Amino acid sequence: MCGIVGITSNKQVTSRIINSLKKLEYRGYDSAGIATLEEGIIKEVKCEGRVDILEKNISKININGEIGIGHVRWATHGKPSTLNAHPHSSEVVSVVHNGIIENSTILKKLLEKKGHQFKSQTDTEVIAHLVTDYLKKNNLKNTIVKVLKKLHGSFALGIIFKDQPDLIVGARRGSPLAVGYGPNENYLGSDSYALKSMTNKVSYLNDGEFCLIKKDNIDFFDTKGNKINKKILNLSKNDQSYDKGDYKHFMSKEIEEQPTTIKNCVNEYVDKVNQKINIYNFPWKINEIKSLVLVGCGTAYHSCMIAKYWFEKNSLLEVNVDIASEFRYRKLKFKKDCLYVFVSQSGETADTYAALDICKKNKMKICSIVNVVESSIARDSDFVLPIHCGPEIGVASTKAFLGQMLVLYMLCLKISFDQKIINKKVYVQKIKNLLLLSKLIKKTLLIDNKIQIISKTFANSRGSMFLGRGYSFPIALEGALKLKELAYMHAEGYPAGEMKHGPLALIEEGMPVVVIAPRDELYKKTVSNMQEVISRGAKVLLITNKSKDEIFSENIWETITVENVSNDLLPFLTTIPLQKLAYYSALEKGYDIDKPRNLAKSVTVE
Ligand code: F6R
Repeated sequence: MCGIVGITSNKQVTSRIINSLKKLEYRGYDSAGIATLEEGIIKEVKCEGRVDILEKNISKININGEIGIGHVRWATHGKPSTLNAHPHSSEVVSVVHNGIIENSTILKKLLEKKGHQFKSQTDTEVIAHLVTDYLKKNNLKNTIVKVLKKLHGSFALGIIFKDQPDLIVGARRGSPLAVGYGPNENYLGSDSYALKSMTNKVSYLNDGEFCLIKKDNIDFFDTKGNKINKKILNLSKNDQSYDKGDYKHFMSKEIEEQPTTIKNCVNEYVDKVNQKINIYNFPWKINEIKSLVLVGCGTAYHSCMIAKYWFEKNSLLEVNVDIASEFRYRKLKFKKDCLYVFVSQSGETADTYAALDICKKNKMKICSIVNVVESSIARDSDFVLPIHCGPEIGVASTKAFLGQMLVLYMLCLKISFDQKIINKKVYVQKIKNLLLLSKLIKKTLLIDNKIQIISKTFANSRGSMFLGRGYSFPIALEGALKLKELAYMHAEGYPAGEMKHGPLALIEEGMPVVVIAPRDELYKKTVSNMQEVISRGAKVLLITNKSKDEIFSENIWETITVENVSNDLLPFLTTIPLQKLAYYSALEKGYDIDKPRNLAKSVTVE
């Protein structure tokens, strides 16, 4: 993952690099570093831990260059430590890197034979020495062309040179990289968000391209070193609030924001007057699409899994769902009449992007569902459906998950109506249900006292299981994922009907088990499975919705009842208690909720 930033200016750059690094911490936060060039000397400050620590360390040192690079790290090669933190320097260059150099071990051995000495365990240090080696016999541009050719794997790079007082080299293969234009200064960043406080004029590097950034000029080159032109794009000026407000954590703020984000998103797509869903400029005719492939990672993948149930029930489309990291290495049979849909909050997830890229190379129809509309995935799609939920800062995805489900559901309704699977009356009723969703989410959120008490049991247990059937199965997976990532607990999501085929052996006296059993067509089946785990000693937390009917099951430990809603929309409500369960379990354990260990918000390595 990692985030990189670079500034070349006629003013000091340190504090602005630090500010940009703070914005990039969503990409990694296990170590941080900065290097600036002052009178021909590269000065570096690095630390293990967050940018705040780097900032404190810097305040004790003079590091005042007018050109510099900075980095936040998510460790791949070499544990998080000051030594392994970037930048990595040789006697002549300093490098920041996002990605993985797959042939670094071979390159390192070759360079060691030539006398290069390495200090860190990282793959990145190899780049610094490789550049140094090529510079001995080549000019700077040819050096970059040759070095990039030698490197296998993915990277976004920022490089400064001891004898180039005004030059930053940026290069990209796989990992995203943006370049920004300012007055008498120019910038490099992992994304435009990191540069937004300095400029709204940016260009993006495409795969294989590199650039030479000086304070008054930027030149772009293709893989072979031929000069190319780049479009300058204007970013929207509104730098939305990234403030926690009165909330203790971004995650709790983002959970509570869901009624608003859902309302905003519904308003973007629903035409209330004509009672229809508007998807403007959809580039394909409905009969051109016979099947769908939905691709994502983690939580985004779970939203795809739920959508499969909706599309299968409400459309004629054949639907397949794939985890992006698997999709990209499978032998796929591409179909011209298939729409490939890539779901990603950040729009920068390396596996999802790579999967998209394969489809693009095979000239397939590509649609993406993203939160960040300036992202690589959005830019490279034929068509983009934004989820309109505003910045999501907490590492655990919450409001974006609901946003992804919502957009997938609205796409499904539109296709369903256009394919004449549902008539106007049903279509209008389903739209009316959607318009009520925000209020029902708001009511469902009022469960804190109860869930806080329940969370204590989870936090003190060795592990737990989450069970559901139908679209409650992906919700079970999502609930388990949230508990794993925030409370660092083993939690297993399972289809309720599958327990007897093995996992039932895990159930022991007092083990907390969450059963998601809303009053849908599978309710009774799930309740039977619930009984099976209760009989084996499980402490069941049942998540269901309000109903006049009694719950025909005994010995349920706790029940959380969400609001009543049409069956299709139940996943939006049953998710809420699970988000809160993970939040309060992590709070109980005193863990870092917004930045859980070992993770990052945007996963830009494969
Ligand atoms: C879990 C979580 C991750 C992301 C996954 C994909 O809470 O946030 O599983 O969903 O890394 O990220 P995006 O949606 O940015 O592609």
